[in-house]
Amino acid sequence: MRLYVTGGTGLVGSNVIRLARGRGMEIIASQYGPEPEWSVDYQLDPLDFADHEGVRASIHKYQPDAVIHTAAILDQIFMDTNRELSWSIMVDGTRVLAEACRDVNARLVFVSSDWVFDGRADLVDESSPPCPVNFYGIMKVASERELGVMDGLNYGVGRLAGVYGLNYAAPSLARVDNGLGFDFSVYVIYRLAAGLPATVWTGPKVNDVAHPTLASDCADMLLRLAQVNENGVFHCFGSESISRVDLAHQIAKAFDADPALINTTVTDPAVLDVHRHIGIPFRTIASTDKTAQVLGRRAFNVGEGLQAFRVEWDAFWS
Ligand SMILES: NC(=O)c1ccc[n+]([C@@H]2O[C@H](COP(=O)([O-])OP(=O)(O)OC[C@H]3O[C@@H](n4cnc5c(N)ncnc54)[C@H](OP(=O)(O)O)[C@@H]3O)[C@@H](O)[C@H]2O)c1
Repeated sequence: MRLYVTGGTGLVGSNVIRLARGRGMEIIASQYGPEPEWSVDYQLDPLDFADHEGVRASIHKYQPDAVIHTAAILDQIFMDTNRELSWSIMVDGTRVLAEACRDVNARLVFVSSDWVFDGRADLVDESSPPCPVNFYGIMKVASERELGVMDGLNYGVGRLAGVYGLNYAAPSLARVDNGLGFDFSVYVIYRLAAGLPATVWTGPKVNDVAHPTLASDCADMLLRLAQVNENGVFHCFGSESISRVDLAHQIAKAFDADPALINTTVTDPAVLDVHRHIGIPFRTIASTDKTAQVLGRRAFNVGEGLQAFRVEWDAFWS
């Protein structure tokens, strides 16, 4: 199988490539940011999703069997203050990519997010109506809809949530906590593994309850999604929801760290001020039943994910 991965130097994209390489797939990856730090034994294609002709030309050139589209902007402040550019990259870029996939008969897996929901429903599933509370979520919903109404497209939307893991392509890009939900697990793991205190913000304006997802595990779910024929939305995230404080304690347990290093406090007022115009879903609890049935397995629950990650972490640093 010839697989095209967008955002191949990102957290999710690098895990998709790592797994796909191990399964003998031929890989092409778009490259927007810095050069990957690992040894590249696949085809790299420089690409900016704001360049729609470039997107179309790249897919036509490589004629992949499947495309996993992980590339996205994740900086909430940037998106909110650069809406036209962000829409062009995230929504129009995804539509152009989908048209190109249709042209060459490639299946498209578009990576979306649990932030299509507002975090107020007791339980959401793959068919629940979205209700985003920020511009990022709006763009994810708009992209999902673009694919849903495109005649003749072979596609799956793979939603992710609270992804943690190792960015194998660019380990030095490991991001730090912004306190609002993204990369929270990564922050706690790096702190506790180094024997340093980890501070958990309990609110306001945090994504307190979510489905933490190990990057290598969702990479497997996305690869499965690339290989089935069913169109629609799939919840490819971890199969268990948990609060940030409980997650921090589970991380301490998995990494043999002292739980006394975990402390809780309210969200930093300076961060609250910067994010004052940006809505954050507080508590997203979602079913993954349909996805498990179609893809043949459920993604890891919290304990399984952390256990698997401990093995990856030890192997990576040894
Ligand atoms: N991280 C999470 O907790 C989370 C949760 C839910 C959903 N998601 C979704 O999962 C996907 C992957 O996220 P991630 O955590 O892996 O993010 P990431 O590490 O920041 O990777 C995103 C990649 O997007 C690429 N990119 C950004 N702007 C681009 C542009 N203008 N043109 C082309 N490529 C561009 C970059 O590609 P290069 O590699 O080429 O530099 C970057 O590595 C995204 O769609 C995100 O919305 C993530």
